[in-house]
Amino acid sequence: ASLRERNTFGVEAVAPWLVEVADAALLPEVLHRAELAHGLSLVLGGGSNLLFAGNPDGAVLALTGQKVALLESGDTAIVRADAGVQWHDFVMQTLSMGLCGLENLALIPGTVGAAPIQNIGAYGVEVREYVHAVEAFEPASGKVHRFTAAECRFAYRDSLFKHAPDRHLVTAVEFALPRQPALRLDYAGIPEELAAMDVTHPTPAAVARAVIAIRRRKLPDPAVLGNAGSFFKNPIVAAAQAEALKARYEAVPMFHGSGDDTRKLSAAWLIDQCGWKGCREGDAGVAASHALVLVNHGNATGAQLLGLARRIAASVHERFGIDIEPEPRVIGATW
Ligand code: EPU
Repeated sequence: ASLRERNTFGVEAVAPWLVEVADAALLPEVLHRAELAHGLSLVLGGGSNLLFAGNPDGAVLALTGQKVALLESGDTAIVRADAGVQWHDFVMQTLSMGLCGLENLALIPGTVGAAPIQNIGAYGVEVREYVHAVEAFEPASGKVHRFTAAECRFAYRDSLFKHAPDRHLVTAVEFALPRQPALRLDYAGIPEELAAMDVTHPTPAAVARAVIAIRRRKLPDPAVLGNAGSFFKNPIVAAAQAEALKARYEAVPMFHGSGDDTRKLSAAWLIDQCGWKGCREGDAGVAASHALVLVNHGNATGAQLLGLARRIAASVHERFGIDIEPEPRVIGATW
């Protein structure tokens, strides 16, 4: 099966089997089938956070369940969504149910099932803050596990699930969402966007509209120009190293990392300084609107995109002494 339509970079890759499972309860049975006996090579969500630098060597599985259920109402509602639900549709559905919290995460591509794996985040919010529990099937044991948010070991673009890819297949996620808005307007760009929209008393729905407008302006639409959002993580470095960099480059954007002794730097800024924004090598390129986004202008291969990414990382290393790492999962090659 061709996976070209199954990854937002739109690169060609072929899998021996592509299996879609709508009902997670059938997973034990499905995984016993002969075609899958040699194990799965990949579980695919929206394909918006991976790069096929080669073909997966085994079956590819997609969970397509679409159920959304309100498990508990009250001041904080618990909502359960199947892994296959489109993330953005889910965000808009929770807002229309009068539930708050996910508004800053509007328009992120991908599925509900993929959201906890890399702890998606944008505009000052990470999904970890609203994850109540993650339900996952473990093929090796044949068991369904329920992970509390604490057990998921979330960190910046990271979780337990990311460390052992495909060990657990996320089948559903439960979210704890307040009814009372607690808007997060601290990220640069959001207040400006709300002002431009003439919003004086922002609601969660208005914040979602602002986020959507900013993303449409800055991030290329994968349906038009293949991409996987940010290709690199923002590097977290020792505070001393960040301060030394600040002394040399006053403009370097810097955020507090997870502790006082670390800082998060802007990978986009580092890449931009090296002159990559808008560059193009054949059909592989860097978005003209954002230095952190690699794009496929048409027929780039995954290997070409990976080659470009390596040259970008090497130039950032050479100029700033900082190592940047891919955010998407790279299939068929090691970074
Ligand atoms: N910048 C540049 N050049 C550029 C773009 C940005 O120098 O071409 C600098 C600017 O100084 C800007 C700073 O980088 O202030 C930060 O840019 P931006 O606000 O766009 O955020 P980001 O750090 O580049 C992160 C996430 C995005 C998320 C935005 C908004 C990562 C790897 N990326 O990008 O997530 O949408 O913040 O919160 O953490 C994704 O993960 O795929 C993704 C798009």
